[in-house]
Amino acid sequence: MRKPVIAGNWKLFKTKNEALALIEELAPLVSGVDNVEIVVAPVFTVLPTLPAALAGTGISLAAQDVFWEEEGAFTGEVSPRMLLDAGASHVIIGHSERRQYFGETEETVNKKVKAALKGALVPIVCIGETLEAREAGDTFKVLERQLKGGLEGLTGTQFAPVIVAYEPVWAIGTGKVASDDQAQEAHAFIRGVIAGLFGKSAADKVRILYGGSVKPENVKGLMSRPDIDGALVGGASLKGASFASIVRYSE
Ligand code: PGA
Repeated sequence: MRKPVIAGNWKLFKTKNEALALIEELAPLVSGVDNVEIVVAPVFTVLPTLPAALAGTGISLAAQDVFWEEEGAFTGEVSPRMLLDAGASHVIIGHSERRQYFGETEETVNKKVKAALKGALVPIVCIGETLEAREAGDTFKVLERQLKGGLEGLTGTQFAPVIVAYEPVWAIGTGKVASDDQAQEAHAFIRGVIAGLFGKSAADKVRILYGGSVKPENVKGLMSRPDIDGALVGGASLKGASFASIVRYSE
């Protein structure tokens, strides 16, 4: 059985005080939930503020990006060691916004995944096709390329903690969620590619999250599909009540 993961990607929102207020609202609403792993991903500057507030809540802390070197002359970057030091246990890697606006490539995703794993962080590796690629019939081709590129050179043992997030770019922040069928089809394909890379047992175990306009109203349908093991939530994770109701989708 794969334990579902519901992760909130706060993107470029929430100062320290706003983040603390959100956790104060969220924590009681998700207390007692033990059938789902809950993760929140604030901006770098907020990370060290949250561990005290998250203690005892069962909510894990993620960063939204990481650099692959441990230290050195790399102005503006943050290393896996520093994320651990700030209290993070997870890190989002390869989000489409980073690919679109900040030049993230399969190669940099791969370096970041390897560095995160080496640094004992759980990578949440994001992949997903643009609308253009979907309309050209290239969805699977893009997903396979991003997966193979991002995970290149990992052994099965190294891959084991990795979480994958399928986030069709056309569904992110648009209110246009993928249909349950579209998401399931992509997830099943992704699981198949992982089986090819790391074997069936690794594919059976990996959690594949769906992301893109997940809301309290659509999460249940998505989560009822066999290959959808959780959600990466942007907009709806910025309010305690909506994120909590996504976390509690099974009730
Ligand atoms: P959204 O973002 O839920 O606001 O569409 C999802 C994501 O980008 O991770």
